[in-house]
Amino acid sequence: MDTFTCLPAGRLRVTPPPTIAIDGPGASGKNTVGLLLAQRLGYRLVDTGAMYRALTWLALATGLDFDDPEALTGFAEATPLRVLPSSAQHPQGGLYADGEDLTPKLHLPEVDAKVSELSRVPGVRRVLVAQQRRLAAEGGVVMVGRDIGAVVLPDAALKVYLDASPQERARRRHQQLRADGADVAYQAVLEDLRHRDTLDQEREASPLRPAPDARIINTERLTPQQVVDAILQHATAS
Ligand code: DC
Repeated sequence: MDTFTCLPAGRLRVTPPPTIAIDGPGASGKNTVGLLLAQRLGYRLVDTGAMYRALTWLALATGLDFDDPEALTGFAEATPLRVLPSSAQHPQGGLYADGEDLTPKLHLPEVDAKVSELSRVPGVRRVLVAQQRRLAAEGGVVMVGRDIGAVVLPDAALKVYLDASPQERARRRHQQLRADGADVAYQAVLEDLRHRDTLDQEREASPLRPAPDARIINTERLTPQQVVDAILQHATAS
């Protein structure tokens, strides 16, 4: 079956790769673009950052020591996450554990502050990467994160790395926070993004960097729709 024949544009006539890996730093547009792309292809979006965030929330609620990698690993092993596809209630996908909807908790400031500490633990990554591979094995998946092309799905036929300057990413994140009613200064958002870039890039386990075979797209002056078009062009060319 030719999956692209149902596209409104009607100009893509090849079967897209079953999994598409999108990586990039915070606020590079991964989730916005990933959702648009998934909708366009009839694929499922899997936001792997949400999985690290959900475990962070639960570890905070349990009072775990974030300096204890063994405790965090054991906790990840003992805590099954349910990762649900996009829905009207949760457009980016839902995250549940033990029947509790954790989706509204994922972007709380306390989660923002701790998620890099949890995601640097190799044992935690091992548990989540295994689950991410199981989700991808179902096919028809756009998977978004930091290490998808390099580690989770090294054989993905299409890997994209989205980037933009820290200033542009902070501008976008600031705008989004303000729209959500948060009273936060641009400078604070910029500093927080830079701090997390450093933690993500300098950690030992799966540091943030493009896979060698990733297509790097600078999203600085592109709308999300233009980025999706650029990715689809790569899909047809690959
Ligand atoms: O994309 P995000 O901001 O929701 O990601 C939250 C954190 O999780 C971020 O500090 C990096 C980490 N992360 C990761 O280490 N590996 C992934 N595949 C996805 C996210």
